Amino acid sequence: MSTHSSADEIIRLESVYKIFGPQPRGRALKLAKDGLTKNDVQAATDHVVGMTDVSFEVRRGETFVIMGLSGSGKSTAIRTVNKLHDITDGRVMVDGTNVQELDGGDLQQFRQKMAMVFQHFALFPHRSVIDNTGYGLKVQGVDKDARDAASLEALNLVGLGSFANSMPNELSGGMQQRVGLARALASDPDVLLMDEAFSALDPLIRRQMQDEMMAIQDHLQKTILFITHDLNEALRIGDRICIMKDGAVVQIGTPDEILTQPATGYVAEFVQDVDQGRVIDVSKIMRDAVVIEPDTGIAAAVSAIGGDGGFVVDASGRPSGVLTPQAALQALAANGSLDSALRTDFDVTTPTQKFNNIYAAAGKGLPIAVVNDNGSLIGVLHPREMVEEMGRVESLIDGFEREVFM
Ligand SMILES: Nc1ncnc2c1ncn2[C@@H]1O[C@H](COP(=O)(O)OP(=O)(O)OP(=O)(O)O)[C@@H](O)[C@H]1O
Ligand SMILES: [Mg+2]
Repeated sequence: MSTHSSADEIIRLESVYKIFGPQPRGRALKLAKDGLTKNDVQAATDHVVGMTDVSFEVRRGETFVIMGLSGSGKSTAIRTVNKLHDITDGRVMVDGTNVQELDGGDLQQFRQKMAMVFQHFALFPHRSVIDNTGYGLKVQGVDKDARDAASLEALNLVGLGSFANSMPNELSGGMQQRVGLARALASDPDVLLMDEAFSALDPLIRRQMQDEMMAIQDHLQKTILFITHDLNEALRIGDRICIMKDGAVVQIGTPDEILTQPATGYVAEFVQDVDQGRVIDVSKIMRDAVVIEPDTGIAAAVSAIGGDGGFVVDASGRPSGVLTPQAALQALAANGSLDSALRTDFDVTTPTQKFNNIYAAAGKGLPIAVVNDNGSLIGVLHPREMVEEMGRVESLIDGFEREVFM
């Protein structure tokens, strides 16, 4: 087996193609490999391109999200990982195993390392919650005591321990979906494959589930391959996000990268609907602050601060006053001192704050001091740049060529 895998990678798709139709390996595959789009291949051959030249790797312990509109190939991609789909071309590797080569007992055993959670998770109506949770283990031949112990532990993880002996019809839809997650966790899989697992839930419950899953993930460090058509969900839970369109990968990156460096107009268009401030840290947009010594003359201060203003800090580095260019020039004209020109009503924030939480303060028009845990000045946010940051994505979209949108 030739591999160039890194040690921490668990899943790798290498230039995978999946063509649906009577002759998947015929002309349709050739045209797809020549770079024709899904639509063009379909028009020419009446075959559907599920995936075209899809490559990505998922690292151990990572939450990797595949995001895309309906029909973009997300489910097809996740289903190649446990061989629910045979692929047409390329290679799927999981933990050093070529998935395509597995069958029979090997395939069955391999699948036990993975658990799948779907959008519409069906519970057996006449089995209790704990029996539903342990169902996969039962299929694997695990005895009842061990099964119940593992199931109860999993139910506790998803907050349903006290419902172990309830029947499914006593649970809300959100709780039933949780049982689905518990069932997946009960078999202690290496990999969780989650296909729109939360998409059927009300927004509030959905966010709760996302939070809970992230908390569980912090604790268990599973590898999660998560599918969603919701960019907000992807940004919220993904360590990295793979954006798909028409069966192809458009961009793979961290939430920050997707937001701040969209690879195409298509991604930028998606991103414009996202409230970026919710995800962007102050540290990402702060700049070095200009520091003025307290005994600086006003003329020297004017030239030091340039157009953006600067801070005076005390002996321990804490900001004690801000000098704006306007105030500095007024003081210069009036022969005033640096002290008389300083303002102390500036706002203070920290690098891990979200942009949104401080954005309103930009309205005051004063530079905002960014301080570390000791209160020492480590950077500055300029109101003008904050406003630009808010408008940046729109201009990004304008900057892309029209044809990328098609
Ligand atoms: N069994 C199949 N036979 C024929 N075409 C299929 C089959 N499964 C999927 N497709 C096609 O492959 C493409 C990708 O489908 P897929 O289900 O992977 O999309 P998706 O991104 O999961 O969409 P959704 O968000 O609606 O679930 C679609 O054009 C779909 O019609
Ligand atoms: Mg799907």
